[in-house]
Amino acid sequence: MAAELKKFSESRDLTRIERIGAHSHIRGLGIDNALEARNISEGMVGQHSARKAAGVILQMIKEGRIAGRAVLLAGQPGTGKTAIAMGLAKSLGEETPFATLAGSELFSLEMSKTEALTQAFRKAIGVRIKEESEIIEGEVVEISVDRPVFSGTAGPSSGSSSTSVIAKTGKLTLKTTDMETVYELGGKLIEALSKEKVQSGDVITMDKTSGKVTKLGRSIGRSRDYDAVGSHTKFVRCPDGELQKRREVVHCVTLHEIDVINSRTQGFLALFTGDTGEIRVEVREQIDSKVAEWREEGKAEIIPGVLFIDEVHMLDIECFSYLNRALENEMAPILVIATNRGITTIRGTNYKSPHGIPVDFLDRLLIISTQPYTEEDISKILDIRCTEEEVDMSPDAKHLLTKIGIETSLRYAINLINAAALACLRRKGSVVEMEDISRVYQLFLDVKRSTQYLMDYQSQYMFSDDPVDVSDADESMQVASG
Ligand SMILES: Nc1ncnc2c1ncn2[C@@H]1O[C@H](COP(=O)(O)OP(=O)(O)O)[C@@H](O)[C@H]1O
Ligand SMILES: [Mg+2]
Repeated sequence: MAAELKKFSESRDLTRIERIGAHSHIRGLGIDNALEARNISEGMVGQHSARKAAGVILQMIKEGRIAGRAVLLAGQPGTGKTAIAMGLAKSLGEETPFATLAGSELFSLEMSKTEALTQAFRKAIGVRIKEESEIIEGEVVEISVDRPVFSGTAGPSSGSSSTSVIAKTGKLTLKTTDMETVYELGGKLIEALSKEKVQSGDVITMDKTSGKVTKLGRSIGRSRDYDAVGSHTKFVRCPDGELQKRREVVHCVTLHEIDVINSRTQGFLALFTGDTGEIRVEVREQIDSKVAEWREEGKAEIIPGVLFIDEVHMLDIECFSYLNRALENEMAPILVIATNRGITTIRGTNYKSPHGIPVDFLDRLLIISTQPYTEEDISKILDIRCTEEEVDMSPDAKHLLTKIGIETSLRYAINLINAAALACLRRKGSVVEMEDISRVYQLFLDVKRSTQYLMDYQSQYMFSDDPVDVSDADESMQVASG
């Protein structure tokens, strides 16, 4: 099992090459302590009121224990809805879980929609488990291991590799500034101590239940005894007080992780491959009651995280009904959803509704709308992206790219940065100039020109007797078709 795990983690390291994602420049929401959006901060530009609203949500999450709210980010394509959700995720602490899901991911063949949603919800609920462990902490005065003795009736012929035959014993003297005690050592502890290369003068902790030995460093008091110490040697003070101490250790997991580890059909390796399949209801019920028990005993705390569902108009009426119910659960995370649709059909019905979301669910939402960017904002975002993608661009070229961004879309303009850099490389230039931009502008069509092209040549394509209906295509198309 361990070998398998190791192999897997190695292969995962190999595939984890540095990539520059669409939102890699976003490092937070860029808001100050008064929740005002800073003009340019943490990779975020403009979109002030939406960012401020997201900041309020962030504050609510951080103050903790509010759960079951739902927030809708609504706005045209390319106005930073996903970016704001990413910013929110980055601003949350390490401990607060953040799970994302694209609406379309729900329609997989491997599990039902509700199972996929349940898993997503449980990925966004953290459990903070507190455990008290007893440790022994002190400075090693002396460590002595007796020569192996053969115990019991078994003779030496039964092989020296068997630990049950050879019993190693030894003594360990530990001290604090206040006391000193001699401990008898068993084979397991001796092994652990020698693995850590513990010698006298070291300050160590031993976990009583797990038998884990940790070397904290060398005692300052003994530093003069050794004239040659490595540069990485850490010196620490000799501990005071009792040798035996109680220490609280805390770890955070998500409910989904507990589910997977406990579902018997799937090993915990499924956590890495994502190949979890459906998890039985009984398993979840058991886990929920166990967690409830821990909470009552004060051993565990629930940390409601954030679940982000992008392209939420892809959800159908069944999913919305599930969401309605799931939000009522006392452990529910904060749900953030995003869509770029206006009034449209609710999937799975013949009814139309704002954003394709049923009204009873709409009623639960706090709605944040994102506004189209100004020329200035677009130019700044393109600037940030050039830095992120390590592309040098002349001011003229940037100006042209900004104009293209306004005419077409922010996303198209962002995509051109990399293409233009390649064109520049090709002509052995080092700074992207206007010619590179216009070259790639001609090579790659944006939506408008692509639509125009299809209008002009539709007869040559298959299945295209319907006039193309692109929601944000404008008059220029109308002219072409009319
Ligand atoms: N306010 C902003 N500041 C910085 N980058 C932004 C901002 N808004 C959008 N972007 C970037 O522009 C691109 C498109 O935005 P995106 O969030 O994907 O739009 P949406 O999800 O609304 O369609 C992404 O690369 C995103 O990171
Ligand atoms: Mg998006």
